[in-house]
Amino acid sequence: MFATEFLDLPPLQTASGLVRLPGSKSISNRVLLLAGLSAGTTVVHDLLDSDDTRVMLEALRTLGCGLEREGEALRVTGLGARLKTTEAQLFLGNAGTAMRPLTAALAVLAATQGGRFELSGVPRMHERPIGDLVDALRQLGCTVDYLGQDGYPPLRLSAGALRTTAPIRAIRVRGDVSSQFLTALLLALPLVAQGNDIVVEVEGELISKPYVEITLNLLARFGIAVRREGWQRFTIPQGSAYSSPGSIHVEGDASSASYFIALGAIAAPDAPVRIEGVGSDSIQGDIRFVEAAQAMGADVTSGPGWLEVKRSRFPLQAITLDCNHIPDAAMTLAVMALFAQGTTRLTNIASWRVKETDRIAAMAAELRKLGATVEEGADSIAVTPPARTSPAAVRTYDDHRIAMCFSLAAFAGAPVRILDPKCVAKTFPEYFEALFGLVRTRLDDIPVITVDGPTASGKGTLASAVAKALGYHFLDSGAVYRATALTAMRQGVPGDDEAALARVAAGLDLHFVGGDAHLGAENVAEALRDEQVGLMASRVAAWPAVREALRQLQLGFRRVPGLVADGRDMGTVIFPGADLKVFLTASAATRAERRYKQLISKGIPASIDDLRADLEARDARDSNRSVAPLKPAPKALLLDNSALGVDDSMALVLEAWEQRRPFASAKGH
Ligand code: DC
Repeated sequence: MFATEFLDLPPLQTASGLVRLPGSKSISNRVLLLAGLSAGTTVVHDLLDSDDTRVMLEALRTLGCGLEREGEALRVTGLGARLKTTEAQLFLGNAGTAMRPLTAALAVLAATQGGRFELSGVPRMHERPIGDLVDALRQLGCTVDYLGQDGYPPLRLSAGALRTTAPIRAIRVRGDVSSQFLTALLLALPLVAQGNDIVVEVEGELISKPYVEITLNLLARFGIAVRREGWQRFTIPQGSAYSSPGSIHVEGDASSASYFIALGAIAAPDAPVRIEGVGSDSIQGDIRFVEAAQAMGADVTSGPGWLEVKRSRFPLQAITLDCNHIPDAAMTLAVMALFAQGTTRLTNIASWRVKETDRIAAMAAELRKLGATVEEGADSIAVTPPARTSPAAVRTYDDHRIAMCFSLAAFAGAPVRILDPKCVAKTFPEYFEALFGLVRTRLDDIPVITVDGPTASGKGTLASAVAKALGYHFLDSGAVYRATALTAMRQGVPGDDEAALARVAAGLDLHFVGGDAHLGAENVAEALRDEQVGLMASRVAAWPAVREALRQLQLGFRRVPGLVADGRDMGTVIFPGADLKVFLTASAATRAERRYKQLISKGIPASIDDLRADLEARDARDSNRSVAPLKPAPKALLLDNSALGVDDSMALVLEAWEQRRPFASAKGH
């Protein structure tokens, strides 16, 4: 996951390949609640692991459900509709799919069995309406108190006057604000259906019907056959009781699929983007995004559990579409509009205003930053693309879908900065990694920062810190030479056999996993730090044939979204066209002192004077040697960090980088 302050996407060109979708958020949280209310155990396969499912799991654990890992799956031991814990405070983040159904289920359980539960979330959750659900629960005899503002969480649920023996009147609930209110009631009311049919009547036009269909479908899997008359009246038959299916599979998230369907439509002219996890057999309403994408020009083929998408008509065709049936995926259409000829109009999307953020306002504001002309209606949005897209820093409002759909704007010819990219963790923590696995672009468009400098200048520490702050790849070129040396030593190749060493270099199977160097399957991070390996590396590095063989390997690290490369010839030989070159120095005295502290802390005896003399000699040798001599690249940013800490040096480099970026005042939110 990218936990950086922002993530810069270079202009992107094409995409193809395979993506496996994470599990559906809507299905995951419904299945978890149903498994938690059922008796016995349910093994859940392919559950989504994200912020929204984590708060649900945490709530179930607090309530006394058993949760055990079973390989890749999760074994849930349910409550059997009996409260184990009668008092709890549950924090539900910004997960509507946890807040609404848990409110209904716990209100009913507390009302019938006694108890006291407090449900709260992040500040935005306390701005998302829940009054219609609370009104419905109060009709039943549940006791629900608002702890903050009326109509909104946080809530307290306590013992009430719900008698399951007396006939229960039909419960009325509004359907035109959020379909989650109806879903919450349908999931919870089997708890009180022993003695009565339970009838729920919807007031107003029910929105987002496909989500209610998911609810009915999953209730059926747990033994509850809800009778439905149109979309107005739902009956849970007397005697209904949850019964676990034993094992259940969560299909991939169809809303998450929309980004990759759009990706195929925009950027896969030849080989397709293949999406696995959802397909023609999906029970999720957002699968109908496929039809909208086809109407705009996507070429889609599908089967059970998979989709393949290619670009067909391009530029895309602008469309006018009532999006009530695909409210979440429709956000992706608003970004696809940037690639269409004409104006794309999305209507009947009032629910956008009460989601993670006011999505109509947010989409309009951010699309305008890219240069689009946007008309914002009360329940609609119309987008006309600009002649030329501007680079923009896109604000994401703690809304995963804004971050994900705006990443596609990077195909419109300009770089895009996504602020707070980690908000994708709500439903798709590895979204950007998945995207980067499919995209390609011109090498020159992938930014490179080089950090060169003499030994012990702290360039490795600085470069890896800068890479981390920007979410860029990191190349520790010293490790490349050390890995060559280590392999040569293990194979008994002597340090003076240039041709044999070059063969070792060319055959190196080196990659980095979480910052650690691996040779094949072996983690060699520790082995590379060995003094003998360092000495051999310095001999190996003197051979031009070795340097040439390692050049290709190092160039291969230049991948989306960008690279920070550390080493003495990064800015001069390997990446002479780098966008920012830093030449880091420190006085020999400072470097000697740093090395001295390092050695002493490892228990190795040392003398500062000797170290300093050593460094001065090495500097002279390095700057005068014939191959890759140590010298600052032309126009390099010269940074003497003798008197600076790592954080200060990093701030200076990031500031210099910011000045070279096209996002004016990009950091301001
Ligand atoms: O930075 P380091 O100590 O890990 O580097 C190991 C050796 O490799 C060192 O002798 C310098 C050499 N090297 C090089 O010649 N060119 C680079 N880009 C990086 C390291």
